[in-house]
Amino acid sequence: MAANVMENSYSPYSRFKVGAAVECADGTVFTGCTIENAAFGVTMCAESAAVASAVSAGKNKFKRIAIASEGSTYYVPCGTCRQILCEFSPEMEVLCSRADGRYVSYSLTALMPMAMGKDQKGNT
Ligand code: THU
Repeated sequence: MAANVMENSYSPYSRFKVGAAVECADGTVFTGCTIENAAFGVTMCAESAAVASAVSAGKNKFKRIAIASEGSTYYVPCGTCRQILCEFSPEMEVLCSRADGRYVSYSLTALMPMAMGKDQKGNT
């Protein structure tokens, strides 16, 4: 599903397509793709788009996320996306695949050690 939605990636600036599919605790899956913008900083990553779709549908507990890219290396989520995933499921699995379909698996804990958590909000 991540590889399929990757084809919808709106990436006219980087010309690099990324897709993501997040599996929720109940087994449902939501997808997202990169959505770039002429104001580069406004670009939304595929992972964040998939999470936005899931949360908007009322699902915010995740088992794992698959990320597909057309690159020759395994594409890991950026720091912002790691933090967004940590908000909901800090121990979820992160699967990163490359153009030939091979993939590697990480725990989000390994990718984002000492992440800021809900208990630190406001530091009061
Ligand atoms: N991108 C993603 O969609 N996910 C990531 O984890 C990192 C980067 C997008 C942003 C940009 O449009 C393109 O990939 C090249 O970095």
